[in-house]
Amino acid sequence: MSKVYDVAVLVGSLRKDSINRKVANSLMEIAPSSLKPGIVEIGGMPLYNQDEDGNPPAAWTRFRAAIKAADAVLFVTPEHNRSVPAAMKNALDVGSRPYGQNVWNGKPAAIVSASPGAIGGFGANHHLRQSLVFLNMPAMPQPEAYLGGADKLFDAGGKLINDGTRKFLQQFMQSFSDWITANVKS
Ligand code: FNR
Repeated sequence: MSKVYDVAVLVGSLRKDSINRKVANSLMEIAPSSLKPGIVEIGGMPLYNQDEDGNPPAAWTRFRAAIKAADAVLFVTPEHNRSVPAAMKNALDVGSRPYGQNVWNGKPAAIVSASPGAIGGFGANHHLRQSLVFLNMPAMPQPEAYLGGADKLFDAGGKLINDGTRKFLQQFMQSFSDWITANVKS
């Protein structure tokens, strides 16, 4: 039997009706059987503070353990002021410390950004890639996924109603599965 990879899915928006959470839900629904995706929540974690390294808040410890347990990470994020939302950056920082205990290390990653705007969160997507280089995460280069006009992609129940986008996201998840197979640490 071929390996099934656990994928931690991080959603960069904390709001209830988040478009990006709907995108993440769709990605999980259409993922190939080689992937077992599950959302790891990033809201509610205290801001990273190096003073707490010796006695970390329980929420940091839980989060670090969840990322450690995953084979790969899928980031689904909005763009805030042409960059990554603060909650997502905090999650990256929490996972990267204490020094020498970076839980992201070596885990294959993929990024999807979504926005009602025309350029689909390109700035956030690429700022995030910059951090992933430092965190030593091989980030899938292609296909790129910038979902523009993303507020029009779902019905009132949060179901993806655009067939072209569905097909693209299916290809994206298959490519991510191939990327994980090629890059995962044994
Ligand atoms: C935004 N938004 C936004 N959109 C964008 O395309 N580029 C940007 O730089 C920003 N900046 C920005 C800053 C802040 C603080 C907020 C709250 C919003 C709009 C954003 O794309 C929109 O609110 C999305 O709906 C956010 O994604 P979720 O929450 O629906 O997943």
